Amino acid sequence: MGIRFDSPRAIVTGGGCRQQAGELLVSLHAERSLIVVDPFFAAADFVDEIRAALSRAGVASELFTDFQPDPTDQNVLAGSAQFSRFRADSILAIGGGSALDVAKIIGAAAANPGPVSQFQGYHRISKSGPPLVAVPTTAGTGSEATKVAVITDTNRNVKMMILDPKLMPTAAVVDYELTFSMPKPLTAHVGVDALTHGIEAYVSRKANPLTDPVALSSISKIHANLRNAWTDPGNGNAREAMSLAALQGGLAFTNSSVCLVHGMSRPLGLMFRLPHGLSNSVLLPTVTRFSWPGAQSRYAEIARAVNLASSKNSDEIACNALVDWLDQLNHDLEVPRLRECCGGDRDRFHGLLPKMASDALESGSPQNNPVVPAPEQIVELFELAW
Ligand SMILES: NC(=O)c1ccc[n+]([C@@H]2O[C@H](COP(=O)([O-])OP(=O)(O)OC[C@H]3O[C@@H](n4cnc5c(N)ncnc54)[C@H](O)[C@@H]3O)[C@@H](O)[C@H]2O)c1
Ligand SMILES: [Fe+2]
Repeated sequence: MGIRFDSPRAIVTGGGCRQQAGELLVSLHAERSLIVVDPFFAAADFVDEIRAALSRAGVASELFTDFQPDPTDQNVLAGSAQFSRFRADSILAIGGGSALDVAKIIGAAAANPGPVSQFQGYHRISKSGPPLVAVPTTAGTGSEATKVAVITDTNRNVKMMILDPKLMPTAAVVDYELTFSMPKPLTAHVGVDALTHGIEAYVSRKANPLTDPVALSSISKIHANLRNAWTDPGNGNAREAMSLAALQGGLAFTNSSVCLVHGMSRPLGLMFRLPHGLSNSVLLPTVTRFSWPGAQSRYAEIARAVNLASSKNSDEIACNALVDWLDQLNHDLEVPRLRECCGGDRDRFHGLLPKMASDALESGSPQNNPVVPAPEQIVELFELAW
């Protein structure tokens, strides 16, 4: 089987490029656009400017802002109802991964009526949605360049992974200036999410020669810049590098895969209402320590690529150095321990472990991990991360 690499048709990057989002929509023959915008930016000047530019080009637009972080099927239904009422033909999504994901599935739902749960899993979207221009405002998920969306099914209380090439945005507009406003905890959590994408894409059983260099380049940028972006939020170079790293992380994992960290973080995040980046961050060091013996040379290559070890060091030394760095990074970025995230409620945590382990396995992500865990091992890993 040949290797397939999906990406948006156009990727625009650079400070100020948000203003090009309108032109891109026009070039896609949009006439009526639903602008799915993160509530944080709903009243931002640049959104008004984009709307004014669209209007000058004859494109009508309406805003949709009624969705929550880690969006739900209800959010999607509200958005697709507005899409139909407005008779929209295109979507502009502006915001974090939540805005981008909800926009992707609003598009899919507009083209395929029925419950949102019909899309759960791999390749379950029959008809393509409308053209979508994605403008990320966090440097984390890489959703602007992935064929994935994560939507919570409120009836079954599961985070549905929806994976289909039809979800790849038509265009991505990556303007790091939109990330200056991220507070420190958000910068940390989404930055470690991007790092997790790079590492998991690289060690996955689905890694390939096209994703490898993209993943390593993402990891290197994060190694060199995440701390600076966190300590000095106005540092343009660090913010720009993090935005590019997040984009690369998305391109890498969507054409390889995520693995055990993401498999475990989805149920954990859902049960304890943790943001996606945080639930990954608290698991990354522990899961990496468990996984590296299954792909020593790959993890060692990552450590050497960021100069945590040299070619003179054994793979084992390099892998240990990588895990030490991940621990140190969480410490430096003030990522809390899992027990703090769960309010110290050990009994509740304990009671939920079997369900979280089985939901993790059911998502399919752990099966791509260098070491494929049994359910009891996932339970053990959750306990170790506590
Ligand atoms: N589709 C994918 O490929 C993919 C990959 C990873 C994660 N995800 C999903 O993405 C979601 C998480 O996205 P996220 O981590 O980007 O966070 P988010 O979109 O949930 O945003 C988190 C919070 O930050 C605010 N915010 C956004 N941009 C901001 C900015 N520039 N300044 C200040 N505040 C800002 C938002 O309003 C929100 O309150 C989860 O649902 C996760 O499952 C998707
Ligand atoms: Fe992620």
